[in-house]
Amino acid sequence: MVFLFGEVFDLMRFSKLAVEFTGEQHPLYALLGRLKQQKQEVTDLVKGNVGEMGAVFPAELLDEILLSASRKASLYSPDPYGQPKARKAIVDFYAPLEFREEQILLSPGSSISYFYCFKVLADPGDEILCPQPSYPLLEYIAQLSDLRLRSYRLAEEQDWSIDFEDLESKINKRTKAIVLISPHNPSGAVLDDAEIRRLVELANKYHLPIISDEVFSEFVYDSNFSRPASFRPELLFTLNGLSKSFALPGMKISWIVVSGEEKACRQALGSLEMISDTFLPVNEIAQFALAEIFEKGKEFQRSYKNMLQECRQIAIQALDGLSFALPKGGFYLALKIEAEEETMALKLLEAERILVHPGYFYEMDGNHLIMTFIQERKRLEDAMQRLKKHLNSSA
Ligand SMILES: Cc1ncc(COP(=O)(O)O)c(C=O)c1O
Repeated sequence: MVFLFGEVFDLMRFSKLAVEFTGEQHPLYALLGRLKQQKQEVTDLVKGNVGEMGAVFPAELLDEILLSASRKASLYSPDPYGQPKARKAIVDFYAPLEFREEQILLSPGSSISYFYCFKVLADPGDEILCPQPSYPLLEYIAQLSDLRLRSYRLAEEQDWSIDFEDLESKINKRTKAIVLISPHNPSGAVLDDAEIRRLVELANKYHLPIISDEVFSEFVYDSNFSRPASFRPELLFTLNGLSKSFALPGMKISWIVVSGEEKACRQALGSLEMISDTFLPVNEIAQFALAEIFEKGKEFQRSYKNMLQECRQIAIQALDGLSFALPKGGFYLALKIEAEEETMALKLLEAERILVHPGYFYEMDGNHLIMTFIQERKRLEDAMQRLKKHLNSSA
């Protein structure tokens, strides 16, 4: 590799990771920047920011909850696991599963929960098994933790279910955990009981912990949602939070539930406590607000789920005739296309002012366009129809 003078200087001053993280802007985003400068209106089908698309936790209700929470938080009394009342509300959320408050630790976001789990489970150079495709954040978290992500295949031909042979073939002595994302981002796959049972059997066979990312668990369509916690894994970290479930990413409050064999859980929780205590736990006001958000936010959550159901239906109808697995959960879908995916994503942005991602952003093989169906309904319908027309006309 040839380094220019400036690059050598940067490498002397900064870590390799810091230099790598600030790479060049992708052409899609360079084009988006130009269009925005020209004040062109672009329909963003990747952002997944539910608030911008109309799912906003009612402001007055949030004011009321936060005011009362800030009073409760006025005397600082931190607990590295999180305030007991918040943990009790989380225990109730999982009923009829019988978790205990002592199994729960609050964190400032599910991405950070991943980081905590990685630190507890693996040493530098160890491997974490992660589904391919997957949303790109995991790669960064693994790099920050000095770990290697090793991909196991989700089989598109079987609606993105786990390819268990591939998964087992990727296990080696450096493997420290299996990440499961269900509902999955971006394929929309949701594991059924048989798959979860098989995964748990495999994990137990190799004594591997499972990290179960369930941040989209409230958005499962046309089927029930099952959690690995019901299937007795030896060691399980269940991740979730308020960012998706109540459309409150800015609250920065998530949790990890540790379950499984008692001795392993004790060790895991002790280490998580130490990490949480090092950074000091989650914002206290958010912690005191959590129970009330669950309680008083139910009506909002119902309408938010209805909105997503409708959006999903609009997308499915508008894209009828094209090739994609019906999203069983989450906010995203992956459209299989004939044309080269990056060229098509650029063309759609240039010609139709529609922003979608090429599949390789998510390590998806073949040609795909990845899109969310969270969007204002009329706009979604219009954008999806234009997208379909564009794809058909360039076929
Ligand atoms: C599958 C998945 N897990 C975790 C996260 C991160 O969640 P949080 O906002 O709580 O950090 C995301 C964010 O989009 C996600 O898509």
